[in-house]
Amino acid sequence: MPCLENKSIFFKMSSVVNPTNIFWHECPIAKADREKLLNQQGCVVWITGLSGSGKSTLACSLGRQLHSRGKLSYVLDGDNLRHGLNKNLGFSPEHRMENIRRVGEVAKLFADAGLICIASLISPYRKDRDSCRALLPEENFIEVFLNMPLELCENRDPKGLYKLARAGKIKVSGFTGIDDPYEPPLNCEIELQQKDGICPTPNEMAGEVVTYLEDKGYLIADSPVITNQLA
Ligand code: ADX
Repeated sequence: MPCLENKSIFFKMSSVVNPTNIFWHECPIAKADREKLLNQQGCVVWITGLSGSGKSTLACSLGRQLHSRGKLSYVLDGDNLRHGLNKNLGFSPEHRMENIRRVGEVAKLFADAGLICIASLISPYRKDRDSCRALLPEENFIEVFLNMPLELCENRDPKGLYKLARAGKIKVSGFTGIDDPYEPPLNCEIELQQKDGICPTPNEMAGEVVTYLEDKGYLIADSPVITNQLA
C-alpha cells in the first residue's frame, strides 16, 4: 500500500491558496441548450457505500441501461480516478476530502454538459458528500446509498483489502468500515439493500435508479426552447 500521505511531493492542504483577480466568463450556450440536444437533463447520481458493496458494478450496469435507452452518461469511478486525476491522494481524512471535492467539481461540470454523471466512490464522510450536493441545484444531486452490510463486503473482499486491513497491514490511514468510519447518508434519494437476506442483482438495482430518473423527468429534455443559435 503506497504511503502517499507521508511524501512531500504529494498534495498538502497547506499548499492550497485562495486566488484573487479571477473572473467568471459566461458562455452563450447554456446547460438547457445542451440538454435539448441530448433530450435528457444533466444530473449527478452519486453512489456511496463501503468498499466491496458493488458501487462500480452498479455504476456500469446503470451506464449500460441508460446507454441502451439512448441516454448519455459517464462514470466517475473512485478507483479509476485514483489512477489519474487523484493519483497524488491517499486515504487520510484530508486526502479523502480533497478526493471527493475534486470529483464533485468534475461531476458538476459533466452535469452542466447535460450528461447523467454517475459518481461511484466510498465517500465515507457525510460532510464531504453534502459539500458536493451543495455544488448543484438540490434536485440535480441524487445520492444512492448502496447499503450492503460490512460482513457481506468483507466476505466478497474482491481486492483482498479487508484481509490486509484485518491483519493490520493498512496502517497509514484506516480502512473504511474497519478502522476508519463510514457515515451513512441521513436523507439520500435512493437506498439499495438486501431483501430477506438476498442482494438484488446489479441490473435490478440499476433498474431502480433508472425508474427514479424516469419518474423525476431526467430522461427527457425539459427546456422549452433552444435559447441560443449557433452561427
Ligand atoms: S474514498 O474514501 O476517497 O471515497 P475511493 O472511492 O476514492 O475512496 O477509493 C476507494 C478504493 O480504494 C477502494 O475500493 C479500495 O479498493 C481502495 N482502498 C485502498 N486503501 C483504502 C483505504 N484505506 N480505505 C478505503 N479504500 C481503500
